[in-house]
Amino acid sequence: MDKVFLRMKKEVREIQEGLARIVVPMGSLISEPHSKLPAFYNPKMRNNRDIAVLFTISQGVRKIGEPMAGTGVRSIRIILENGNIEEAFINDLKREAVKFIRENLRLNHIGRNTARVTRLEANLFNIIHSLPGNRVEYLDLDPYGTPAPFIYSSIMALRKRGVLAVTATDTFTLKGFKPETALARYGVKIFKNIFPSEVAVRTLLYYISRAAASLEYGIEPLAAYTQRHYVRVYVRILRGPGKAKESQKRVGYITLCDHCPFWKISDEEFREERCPFCSSKLRIMGPLWIGVLKDNETISRILDTRGEAYWIEEESWKILRRIAGEIDTVGYYDIPLLASKLRRSPPSMSEVISSLRERGFKVSRTVFSTTGVKTDAPLRELVGSFNP
Ligand SMILES: C[S@@+](CC[C@H](N)C(=O)[O-])C[C@H]1O[C@@H](n2cnc3c(N)ncnc32)[C@H](O)[C@@H]1O
Repeated sequence: MDKVFLRMKKEVREIQEGLARIVVPMGSLISEPHSKLPAFYNPKMRNNRDIAVLFTISQGVRKIGEPMAGTGVRSIRIILENGNIEEAFINDLKREAVKFIRENLRLNHIGRNTARVTRLEANLFNIIHSLPGNRVEYLDLDPYGTPAPFIYSSIMALRKRGVLAVTATDTFTLKGFKPETALARYGVKIFKNIFPSEVAVRTLLYYISRAAASLEYGIEPLAAYTQRHYVRVYVRILRGPGKAKESQKRVGYITLCDHCPFWKISDEEFREERCPFCSSKLRIMGPLWIGVLKDNETISRILDTRGEAYWIEEESWKILRRIAGEIDTVGYYDIPLLASKLRRSPPSMSEVISSLRERGFKVSRTVFSTTGVKTDAPLRELVGSFNP
């Protein structure tokens, strides 16, 4: 341990995460991590980092950037566990965090030829990396709260077909519980709804697609999910005005009933309509990303590495399996919520799934809710699988 860290011995602790040994502030292990600590480390985000490592492997990534790196654990794990990283650009604005990053690189025997550390504001870091020759293949954006102020510059820092990974922790806003903030921050009209976690992902993807389109880029979502307090998306950036226009065709609106669990997708902003199920008023949410949320080939390629990546936690594979198993439809039905709206007793998840499948509908569980099902069946058919 270097001299500065030896002096801090009582305040720091060396831990193992994945294949990396990491020095972290002791405070981050005994309570919820917060911005007052010398460097930010959240042990509960291990699965988020596990999946990030697997993505870089599946995409054959060699050059990465992390504008908000905390202790550097994420980039260091990617370097060690990917095994093919040629250049990693690791940055944090906080002076103490940069010391942790340097110490952690030393601890893991990662030299300056592979990892370059900077102390810059994240947007400035991204803009420097937007210069031709400086761009990265994978950029991991992991701020406190909303990523919105950093999306444009992050897209600019990516090479052709580069992958942008984004974590957002302003989940309440993204889910629709704070309509005014969502409108101001993401430019969407959303409100409290029956599939909030999916709305969160579709809001963030809309915002990324909007930013990309104004730079004349399109997007291809590779994976999207929510866990505890955060939303996470992986998006491939596709260059060219044609790609931008194509992506914008996947932006639309979701019309929901005020009273019952009916909804539908629409590409128009508003048409005075009544619910075909219960005749109540319909409300419209959007604009939102209404295209697919994942690339099946990428996810199955990641799942195929299961035998080799023995250090990845079971919980991370579970998230990936849930993503893989999802059918590509918009929205999901939360079975207990649906039962309470219908004033009926809820059937088990497996009963609902097999009953819809037997009648020829597509149906799956969802990564967004342990009690949710996705299906292409109309609401009337789904209601048919409930006990009277
Ligand atoms: C959530 S933490 C990052 C955690 C890290 N990515 C990981 O996986 O452990 C957010 C980090 O962003 C840094 N930060 C906050 N605002 C910043 C800014 N404008 N520019 C650069 N870094 C910033 C903080 O110091 C903090 O270390």
